[in-house]
Amino acid sequence: MATIAPQAYTPELAAELAPLYHRVEDVMTEVEWAVHAPYIAAIRELKARHNAVILAHNYQTPEIFHGVADLTGDSLGLAQQAVQTEADIIVLCGVHFMAETAKLLNPHKTVLIPDADAGCSLASSITAADVQAMRQRYPGVPVVTYVNTSAAVKAESDICCTSANAVAVVESLGVDRVMFIPDQYLSHYVSTQTDVEVIPWAGACEVHERFTGDELRMYREDHDGIYILAHPECPQDVLAEADFVGSTAGMVRHLGEKRPSHVVMVTECSMSDNVAVEFPEIAFVRPCNLCPHMKRITLPKILRALETRQHEVTVDEAVAVRARQAVERMLAVGRQEGK
Ligand code: 13P
Ligand code: SF4
Repeated sequence: MATIAPQAYTPELAAELAPLYHRVEDVMTEVEWAVHAPYIAAIRELKARHNAVILAHNYQTPEIFHGVADLTGDSLGLAQQAVQTEADIIVLCGVHFMAETAKLLNPHKTVLIPDADAGCSLASSITAADVQAMRQRYPGVPVVTYVNTSAAVKAESDICCTSANAVAVVESLGVDRVMFIPDQYLSHYVSTQTDVEVIPWAGACEVHERFTGDELRMYREDHDGIYILAHPECPQDVLAEADFVGSTAGMVRHLGEKRPSHVVMVTECSMSDNVAVEFPEIAFVRPCNLCPHMKRITLPKILRALETRQHEVTVDEAVAVRARQAVERMLAVGRQEGK
C-alpha cells in the first residue's frame, strides 16, 4: 500500500494549524511544532477518509493528546467511550491492554494500536495460570482484576476495575474477602478504604513505584503550599503524603474543582503537560517518570497504522466472551464519586 508522506511545513499549513499550536504553545517549542504539524495534518485527513477515531490515554504526548485525539481519558473513560463510538476503526493511543479492552467491547470493529509492543509492567506480572492457581488456594473467593492485565487474565476474573472505581467494584460484590490482582500498591490502597479483606498479588507499575515519600516531602519543603495529587499505583508512603489520590481523570476533575495555585502530579510525565494546556493559570512542578510503553506511540506510527491498518488487535473468541463479561460488570458499576 502506498504511504502518504506528510506534506512540508509550509506557511499555509502553519496558518491552518495556528489555532491548535496556540493551544499547546506553552508545552511545545515552535521547532517541535514544525516537526509534528505535517503529521498532524496527514493523520487528520486519513482519519476522516477511513471513518477512524483516535482514543488517547492521558499519558500520551501533547502532540497526540491535543493534536490528533478525538477522545481522551483514563482507562475507565477510554473503555466507556469505546462502547459509544460509531467509527469503523478505533486507533488506541495507549498501551496494549487498553486496545484489547476496546476490542472486547467492539468485537466487530477494527481496533489498531500503533505499536504492538506497547506493554505494561502490571499486565506482564501475571498470567491466566497464576489466577487459576490463586483460585485453588482461595476457593470461592472472587477475583477483582485491574484492567491493566491481558484479556486472558480478565477471562479468569469475576470483575474488572480501574483506579477510578476499585473500591466501588470491590464493595459491589457484597462479600467480606476478595483477591485483588495484580497491583500490590493499588490493592493496599483499596484495603485502607474498605472493610473488605483484600488478598493481593505482587505486581507493580514500574513508573509509579519509583516515587518515594521523601521526594514528596522535598516538594513540600521547596514549594510552600504546594498541592499534591498522586495515582494509587504509588507506594503507600507516597499516598500518605498526598492531598488527593485518584485516577488520572480523577486528578484532572479534582484540579478543575479545587484550582490550587501550584501543584505536583505524582504520575507519568506527559500528564502535567496535557493538563497544563487545560489549566494555564496553575503552576506545575513536574517530576518526570516516563512510561516507556506509552512513549512507544508516536505520530509517525499513528500515521502508519492508519495507512496500513497495523497493528490490528485480536482476541481469541473463547477468551473474549469471558473477559468481556468481567469488563461489562465493571462498566455497570461505573465511576466512583470523586475518582
Ligand atoms: P488511569 O486509569 O488512572 O488512567 O491509569 C492507567 C495507568 O496505566 C496508570 O499507570
Ligand atoms: Fe503500565 Fe505503569 Fe505504564 Fe501505566 S504507567 S501503562 S501501569 S507501566
